[in-house]
Amino acid sequence: MTASARWWPVALSHELGKQPLACQLHDLPLVLFRAEDGTPAALPDRCPHRFAPLSAGKVRDGQIECPYHGWRFAADGRCTRVPGTELERCDKPLLDSLPSCEAHGLVWVSPAGDRPAILPVAPAEQRQALDTFWITDEVECSLLEAAENFLDGFHTHFVHAGWIRHDRQRQAISARVRPLADGVEALYSEEGTQSGLISRLFEGERGISMGRFRLPGLAEIEYRDRKGGLNLLVSAWLVPVGNGRLRLFARIATARGWLPAALKRLVLRRLFGVILRQDRQILEQVSANQRRFEHLPVKPLDGRQDLLGPSIRLLIEGGEALDFEERRVEIRL
Ligand code: FES
Ligand SMILES: [Fe+2]
Repeated sequence: MTASARWWPVALSHELGKQPLACQLHDLPLVLFRAEDGTPAALPDRCPHRFAPLSAGKVRDGQIECPYHGWRFAADGRCTRVPGTELERCDKPLLDSLPSCEAHGLVWVSPAGDRPAILPVAPAEQRQALDTFWITDEVECSLLEAAENFLDGFHTHFVHAGWIRHDRQRQAISARVRPLADGVEALYSEEGTQSGLISRLFEGERGISMGRFRLPGLAEIEYRDRKGGLNLLVSAWLVPVGNGRLRLFARIATARGWLPAALKRLVLRRLFGVILRQDRQILEQVSANQRRFEHLPVKPLDGRQDLLGPSIRLLIEGGEALDFEERRVEIRL
């Protein structure tokens, strides 16, 4: 995958304050800090002197100070102070800084040397005023496994039985699957009222819902009412951090209404906490099971109801847009 040419989120904007923040992207441990003008900076989290983690240091005047002997580094990786000696003029960076930026409530880093030409992938735009909050987590699974799990309706009757759907209360619906410029989308129409608890609490009649995946790792679910108004938008940025682990930054958005945002957040956070735990459990079982069968690798078997999984696999493996005719599938969800 051409992961190197893209922006990946590594932290929530509000998490990065006055102190350095450790994070990891594609097996590379990083330290994030804010330069004097407030813009985020990203350096490898290893002091070149004796390899102390810079994330355990302090930010001084917009530069990172190593906790061991106090060497200081600017956002571009140049060393600006070696306590105890006159610093020799040092124009060459001692650390390779990574391109970084801030957008959509997240701090982004590109593992490539140059700034990517493509902007950070944004959540679906909404016309209404929104109440939003974030949930973050880490799961032991791959990007593909997490994206497919998040966008697949057919596991919800079993993994989230009663919370999202019931196996005994399925309804016939039509789904359209179409390619996007940087991903793939499924539109589900005429879903009516859902059987699960979450829908009963937060939705009236559902008109249309969408599940979409966009490169390099945004999975979104959008529920709309019959008039096209937003009920719920969950945008989950999925980031492979390394060692088979995936970091999730999920932004939960609801249309601003009469219910106070803090109350919605309280209830939704609880509910999503349960759902996430259920998904994490099955995803980690899948990962562990794949390791048991490492010596007998096989390709996953797709069924007709796997609306997005095969496309997500192609997108992640190929790193570029897919070209296929929109197709319609009748399913019982
Ligand atoms: S290890 Fe960082 S200053 Fe010595
Ligand atoms: Fe799930």
